[in-house]
Amino acid sequence: MRTFWPAIAALLGAQGVTAQTTTTAIPRWCGKPYESGSPNINPGGQLEPPKPSSTPLLFVQVEPRHNIYVSSEKTATFIVDAALSQYHGEPYRNSTQQLGDPDVQPFNDLYFNILLESTDQVLVTNNVSVNSTDNLFDFDISTLKPQLDAYEIVLSGASADGNQTFTATTKLFYLPDKTTGSVTKIDNLNGGLLFRNNATNNEFVPFIAFGFYTSYGGYLELSLDNVKKYYDLGYSAIHPVSSYSPNLTVILDYFDELNLPFQYDMRGTYQNLTSVEEEVNLAKDYSTLLTWYTADEPDGNQDPFNATSLAYDTITKIDKYHPVGVVLNCQNYFFDEYSQGADFLMEDAYPIGINATWSKKWDTPCNTTYGDCGCDNCLGELQDVSNRIDDLARYQEYLGQSPKPIWAVPQSFDGEQYWDRNPTEDETWVMNQLSLNHGAKSIMMWTFPTLDHLATANSLQSKVITKSPVLDLLTGTQPQALSIPGHQLLDVAYWIVGSQALVSVVNLAYAETSSEISIQLPFDAAAISSTPWGSVDWKLSGNALEVQGLNATATSLVILDL
Ligand SMILES: *[C@@H]1O[C@H](CO)[C@@H](O)[C@H](O)[C@H]1NC(C)=O
Ligand SMILES: *[C@@H]1O[C@H](CO)[C@@H](O)[C@H](O)[C@H]1NC(C)=O
Ligand SMILES: *[C@@H]1O[C@H](CO)[C@@H](O)[C@H](O)[C@H]1NC(C)=O
Ligand SMILES: *[C@@H]1O[C@H](CO)[C@@H](O)[C@H](O)[C@H]1NC(C)=O
Ligand SMILES: *[C@@H]1O[C@H](CO)[C@@H](O)[C@H](O)[C@H]1NC(C)=O
Ligand SMILES: *[C@@H]1O[C@H](CO)[C@@H](O)[C@H](O)[C@H]1NC(C)=O
Ligand SMILES: *[C@@H]1O[C@H](CO)[C@@H](O)[C@H](O)[C@H]1NC(C)=O
Ligand SMILES: *[C@@H]1O[C@H](CO)[C@@H](O)[C@H](O)[C@H]1NC(C)=O
Ligand SMILES: *[C@@H]1O[C@H](CO)[C@@H](O)[C@H](O)[C@H]1NC(C)=O
Ligand SMILES: *[C@@H]1O[C@H](CO)[C@@H](O)[C@H](O)[C@H]1NC(C)=O
Ligand SMILES: *[C@@H]1O[C@H](CO)[C@@H](O)[C@H](O)[C@H]1NC(C)=O
Repeated sequence: MRTFWPAIAALLGAQGVTAQTTTTAIPRWCGKPYESGSPNINPGGQLEPPKPSSTPLLFVQVEPRHNIYVSSEKTATFIVDAALSQYHGEPYRNSTQQLGDPDVQPFNDLYFNILLESTDQVLVTNNVSVNSTDNLFDFDISTLKPQLDAYEIVLSGASADGNQTFTATTKLFYLPDKTTGSVTKIDNLNGGLLFRNNATNNEFVPFIAFGFYTSYGGYLELSLDNVKKYYDLGYSAIHPVSSYSPNLTVILDYFDELNLPFQYDMRGTYQNLTSVEEEVNLAKDYSTLLTWYTADEPDGNQDPFNATSLAYDTITKIDKYHPVGVVLNCQNYFFDEYSQGADFLMEDAYPIGINATWSKKWDTPCNTTYGDCGCDNCLGELQDVSNRIDDLARYQEYLGQSPKPIWAVPQSFDGEQYWDRNPTEDETWVMNQLSLNHGAKSIMMWTFPTLDHLATANSLQSKVITKSPVLDLLTGTQPQALSIPGHQLLDVAYWIVGSQALVSVVNLAYAETSSEISIQLPFDAAAISSTPWGSVDWKLSGNALEVQGLNATATSLVILDL
C-alpha cells in the first residue's frame, strides 16, 4: 500500500522507474489516468476468460506437495490432477470399449510414471481416474542428491487402452539442509505455510501469518519497546516497512530474541538487484525470517513487467529457503505479468469509507477506465475483499497455473485521503474472517501503529486464528463455501480435517438477521466441540447449526466433532 510515508514515496520516486505500458506522460494508476482533466484512456491489460471448449478437456498436472524439501527429509509427495477443464488440456475421448479386465476403465484410468528428466529415474508409477484432483503419491526423495538447482520432473502416461498419451512437467527442489536460521515452505495442496526454526524445535509446523505492516522509521526504529509492544499484542508475524539500512540488524536481532517471524520488505529497492543481493545476505540467516516481499503494488505503479521476476531470480539464487510475495493492487491489470516472480500473492482492497465513484483526492469520476478512488474497481463494500481474492484465484485458473497461495492485506488503518473513516472492530473482524473463508492463507493488515481499539480487536482474533485448534483446521485443507438459502449476506465456509470440522460464519449485512438462521451442513456432525470465536449461541439440531438470529456484521467460528 502506497501513500503514507513521504520518505518511501521519495525513495520510490528516486528509482526512476519507467512505466512500460504508459505511452504518454499522463500519470496513471492501474493504467488509468487519474488527474483531473486527463483524457479517458482504456488501461488495457484486462485478463479475460479463455474461450471455453465445447467438450471437456483432460488437464493433467503434477506438482510437488511442498515447494521445497530439505535433505533431512526422506519422504516427499507429488500431487497429480487429472481434471476435466473447460479451458486447458487435451481433447478428452472416453472409451466405452471394455478391455479384458472388467475392473479397468479403458480411458477412465490413467497410468503414469513420474521421473527425473535428466536420468529417467522413475520416482512414482501409479494411476489416477479422470476427473480426479489432489491425488497424492509419496516417494523416497533420499535417493536424490540434495542440490540448490531444481530437478526437472516429467509425468508421462497413457490411458488404459494406450490410445491417448499425455505429459506434464514440474520442478522439484531438494535442498541441502539449512543449518542456520529458519526454513519456510508452501504446502501446495492446502496453500498454507510450514515454518521451522529453533523455536519450533527445528520441526516444520503449520503457520498462519497474522499481523501488520508496521512503520519502521516512525515506530519500530524509535525503540525496541515499540517492538515489544507489538509482540505483546499476540500477533504471529510482522512486516516492517523498512527502507534498507544496515542498522536494521538491531531490530532483526530483537525479532529473533522474541521469536517474532518477519516478512522482509524490499519495496523501495527491489529493482536494484545489487541492493536485493545485499539485503538477502543480510537477512537470510535470521531464525525469524518468514518470507521475502519485493514489489508493493507494481501493477498500480506500472513497474516494468520483468521487475518482480528479476528480483525473484536474484533472491532465490541466494536463498531458496523462504518464499517470495508481492502485493497486487489492481483488480484486473496485467495480472499474468505482475504475478510472476512471486510464490504467493497478496491483495490489498480497502473498501471501507471510500467513495467508489468519485475520487475525493483527485476530484474526478472513477470507473473501469478512469480515476483512482483508493480501491480499484471496488463498490465500497465488505465483499470487495472477497471478490478480489476470488478474482485472483480465477485469473490463475484462466492461465492454467498451479494456484499460488493468496494472502489478504485487510484495511485496519485510521482513514485518510480516499478513506472517510476507519473500519469498526466488527468490520475489521469481518474482513479478516471473510478473507479466510475465501481461501486467504495469511493476513497482514495495513498498518501499525493503528488506533488502539483496532490493535486490540485484531490481536484477539490473531490469538484464535494462529493457534490450535483453529490453526490446524485452517491449514489442514481448503475451505468449502456454503450458501444459505434466504440469507445471501451470510458468508459461510467450512474445513474438515480428521474427525473435526470448522465452520466460519460472517454476516456481511449491516443489520441483524430478520429471521432464525439454520445452516444445513453437508456432512454428519455429532456435537459442537467449541466456539473459539464470537459469542453466537449455536445449537446443533440434526445436521443443522441453528441460532435465533445474528447481529449486524457478526463473526463466528464453531468447531464440530464428526
Ligand atoms: C469513465 O469516466 C471517464 C471520465 O468521465 C469517461 O470519459 C469514460 O467514458 C468513463 N468510462 C466508462 C467505462 O464509463
Ligand atoms: C467414461 O466412460 C465410462 C464407461 O461408460 C464411465 O463409467 C465413466 O464415468 C466415463 N468417465 C468420464 C470422466 O466421463
Ligand atoms: C491403480 O491405483 C490404485 C489406487 O492407487 C492402486 O491400488 C493400484 O495398484 C494401481 N494399479 C496399478 C497397475 O498401478
Ligand atoms: C467430474 O467431477 C465433478 C465433481 O466431482 C462431477 O460433478 C462431474 O459430474 C464429473 N464429471 C464427469 C464427466 O464425470
Ligand atoms: C484405439 O483407437 C483405435 C483407432 O484410433 C480404435 O480403433 C480402437 O478401438 C481404440 N481402442 C480402444 C480400446 O478404444
Ligand atoms: C534462536 O536463535 C536466535 C539467534 O539466531 C536467538 O536469538 C534466539 O534466542 C533463539 N531462540 C530460541 C527459542 O532458542
Ligand atoms: C539507522 O540508519 C538510518 C539511516 O542510515 C538512520 O537514519 C537511523 O538513525 C539509524 N538508526 C539507528 C537506531 O541507528
Ligand atoms: C543500488 O544499491 C546499491 C547497494 O545498496 C547502492 O550502492 C546503489 O547506490 C544503488 N543504486 C541506485 C541506482 O540506487
Ligand atoms: C526488463 O524490462 C525493461 C523494460 O521493458 C528492459 O529495458 C530490460 O532490458 C529488461 N531487463 C531484462 C534483464 O530483461
Ligand atoms: C460520491 O461522491 C459523489 C460526488 O461528490 C456524490 O454524489 C455521491 O453521493 C458520493 N457517494 C457516496 C457513496 O458517498
Ligand atoms: C448483539 O448485539 C446486542 C446489542 O449490541 C448485544 O447486546 C448482544 O450481546 C449481541 N449478541 C451477540 C451474540 O453478540
